[in-house]
Amino acid sequence: MERFGAIGFGSVLLVYLMSGASALLHTAKTHSVCKSCGPQPANCKSYQCLANCSVSEVCPSPDDVCAAVWWRNNGMVTVQTKCHNPKQLLKGVMMDNYNSSDCVLTIRNTDPHNLRLCACTGRECNERMLLNEVDDKIMSASDTASGPFKLSQLCKFCDIELTECNATGVCNSSCTVSSICEKPNEVCVSAWRRNNGRATIETVCHNPAVPFRGQYLTDYNNSVCQMKQVKGMEDDFYICSCSQEECNDKLFFTDAPSGPGDFRKDPPLVLLITVVPALIAVVVLLSTFYCYRVFRQQSLKAPKTKGIDIETCAIMSDDDRSDSSSANANSLNHNTELLPIQLDIIVGKGRFAEVYRAKLKQGTTDESFQMVAVKIFPYEEYASWKTEWEIFSDAELRHENVLQFLTAEDRKAERRYWLITAYHERGNLQEFLTQHVIGWDELCRLGGSLARGVAHLHADRTPCGRAKVPIVHRDLKSVNVLVKSDLSCCLCDFGLSLRLDNSMSPEELANSGQVGTARYMAPEVLESRMDLENIESFKQADVYSMSLVLWEITSRCSAIGDVREYEPPFGKLKDHLCVESMKDDVIRDRLRPEIPTSWTNHMGIQLLSSTIEECWDHDPEARLTAQCVVERFGEISSAVIPPVSSDTKSTQDSGNDEK
Ligand code: ADE
Repeated sequence: MERFGAIGFGSVLLVYLMSGASALLHTAKTHSVCKSCGPQPANCKSYQCLANCSVSEVCPSPDDVCAAVWWRNNGMVTVQTKCHNPKQLLKGVMMDNYNSSDCVLTIRNTDPHNLRLCACTGRECNERMLLNEVDDKIMSASDTASGPFKLSQLCKFCDIELTECNATGVCNSSCTVSSICEKPNEVCVSAWRRNNGRATIETVCHNPAVPFRGQYLTDYNNSVCQMKQVKGMEDDFYICSCSQEECNDKLFFTDAPSGPGDFRKDPPLVLLITVVPALIAVVVLLSTFYCYRVFRQQSLKAPKTKGIDIETCAIMSDDDRSDSSSANANSLNHNTELLPIQLDIIVGKGRFAEVYRAKLKQGTTDESFQMVAVKIFPYEEYASWKTEWEIFSDAELRHENVLQFLTAEDRKAERRYWLITAYHERGNLQEFLTQHVIGWDELCRLGGSLARGVAHLHADRTPCGRAKVPIVHRDLKSVNVLVKSDLSCCLCDFGLSLRLDNSMSPEELANSGQVGTARYMAPEVLESRMDLENIESFKQADVYSMSLVLWEITSRCSAIGDVREYEPPFGKLKDHLCVESMKDDVIRDRLRPEIPTSWTNHMGIQLLSSTIEECWDHDPEARLTAQCVVERFGEISSAVIPPVSSDTKSTQDSGNDEK
């Protein structure tokens, strides 16, 4: 009886607790977590698009749902993801269908081909957008006016890109952009051409009723892209067209395409004539290349190969190197014809130059272009332009964490010098940290890639073991670091950099005294007491500056607990810090940026803080090398295995936009 009494009381308590909890759940509405990225290219395939957005946001209002704005321009699909209050208009449209966990794109605009919207409820449900098939049919029908519904083709669409393909055998386009063609009657087209020794592949959608590059497409019903040489052209020119998903990716310069069901000739004969010689050639080439590399590595007596980036080695093979170094070493665009570049907006202003976002025209139309950055120096700043150009001209500097250099131009008519580089729309690290709180994963990504960039700059070998001239940056700061779309960093602004080759005389070294930005200057630089005869001391000064940037990144990481507003090292942004006041702080008072006690609550941050402290040691000799910091990042990130819940925390925080 007593037992029943206890059970009865227990059940009542349980029911009471449960009803209390459900009441709580009903009253305290949770905030959605959504992908939140500005416009960026999306990956689309078979009626679904992925936003490629690595930033998540805890929505500001509990009413918010996740939303995506999708548009297509000139075959390129762009997507913007965000939190959205469904009681408000999104692009002038009231979103009513937001309860689904799928973000189903629907056409809601007077320009049906180019703008679609979706909203959904569920964690990061706007990461994947579904193209509503009904809408696609409506769209297709409206394009063709009458006749059967036809869905638009999915094709590779990169416009014109340089290629290594030499119009033999089977080539891949190497185009990473897939696009649903704008019109359902368009087919996939690829064109290969060689002009002045430069080979390019063009991948597009095209309506076969209209000539393409002056040629009518006759093979567009093929399921594979069978290249045909166009005779009578000035350039070496091949075209193919086809009507299968992404069929313009694989390009057959042989007579016999190996597409499914498309053997139009006797298959065994075809195999014998094309595939077997190609295979033999590949085997011979590979073994020659392998022997050559083994021989070369031995002769270089390359140090330990641990950490060699096989991919980089593949890209920067010796053959490539001789190509690219000759291209780079003489990388002034000597053509009387300057690159077809249209300046857009200004994105940065430095000591000697201004940086513009710009459009590099790719084809014959105005719509196809590649975004680039152009750094413009007035004629008076010839020396700075030349220094930076010379630094960039070293092909061995190429690295994923160093800004990619394209070319230099002497724009005589405008009395300006240009440096043309890759463009990174997230801007510099200082701007990024001002606007974003990051999670632990992003901290490791940003910090690790920064250290890899500096280590590569300082190294006397490439990751493949080739000899390289060590370079010191001498003005490392968060403004001179760019954030790439995958949230890794690359170093930029080499206007004060030095190549530490043996050709530098002691006088030249001695004259290369105190340069940089006072806030980031190492104590020995502030004091002008650097050992200028020892090239290591230049690297040690860079490591000091890098440690301040690592501190800036860490200070914006949510893993430390409450995150303060972004502040640069040693005080407010607007404060101008001169060498004399920095000397008081950094040398007399041995001051360094604060590492609050809360940073010890997270094992990874604690380990990273010690690394940072070892990098800003007063004694330059005691500092870690950049390569050592790279290795520390490896150890720290593998030592910190995020618990299941910490993943949630970091993604939530990483999107905490404070703009
Ligand atoms: N600011 C300076 N250089 C830049 C670049 N290459 N891309 C974007 N912003 C920049």
